[in-house]
Amino acid sequence: MPAELKLLGNFPYLDHYLELANIERELTHIKSNSKLVFVGGGPMPLTPIALVLIEIILKAGLGKEFEDCLSLKKGDEKQAAVAALLDKLDTSSLDPDYHIISVEKDTVAAERSKELLKALHLDHAITVHNVAGQDIKVEPGFKTFFIASMVVGKEEVMRNIMRQIPEGEEVLFLVRSVEQSNLRELLYEPIEEMLEEIEQKYPALQRHDSYTPPPGSALINSVHVYKFKNLATPVLD
Ligand SMILES: C[S@@+](CC[C@H](N)C(=O)[O-])C[C@H]1O[C@@H](n2cnc3c(N)ncnc32)[C@H](O)[C@@H]1O
Repeated sequence: MPAELKLLGNFPYLDHYLELANIERELTHIKSNSKLVFVGGGPMPLTPIALVLIEIILKAGLGKEFEDCLSLKKGDEKQAAVAALLDKLDTSSLDPDYHIISVEKDTVAAERSKELLKALHLDHAITVHNVAGQDIKVEPGFKTFFIASMVVGKEEVMRNIMRQIPEGEEVLFLVRSVEQSNLRELLYEPIEEMLEEIEQKYPALQRHDSYTPPPGSALINSVHVYKFKNLATPVLD
């Protein structure tokens, strides 16, 4: 296990990312050989990192220990338990087919994230594409698309992806938001109205599942999962 990965365990919010990524992994039926795209990775793509760590944890048979860590109350004990778990991981054990593309439009942020992933020995599992989500080219085999909460132009990003999906193929979108009833909307852009609009515009886009953090949860984002099947309807020019 690289020493840098152990250091990551000291990052105070890593447990939140692991917890949310674990929920999102289940909502989108991610498997050990999945390929996904994360739009809006930023300089520190913690969600892609958390998703990869979870696959390594599960492959090592440490799922129960992971659940136990997450169920601890936030604090030093929880942080130490997460760090101890990371200490046991072998980053080379990941299924070679599992892959995440982290999309980042800002060149400086993209370069920073490349350096970080190299230091963590996770660059074989996560590659960074320095491009706006509105312009990404969908690569074959990538069927799950996460759209981060801070992504600007979510509809255009989704539209760019949808128009590239071959006829008859189905993909999943996971879009992060925050509850409007929640003060957290001051931190992030709520997107309920935009989602209602695109549901009407693109009938092939069907809401599949959602997750909202329960009252008192330390998690910030709510999550909506959409299925899109290209039925060759003329809405996408
Ligand atoms: C701060 S990061 C969020 C990363 C997140 N914390 C995670 O879960 O790993 C948000 C990033 O999204 C990028 N971004 C915003 N809109 C984008 C777009 N349309 N395409 C690509 N990147 C975008 C910003 O440049 C910023 O670096």
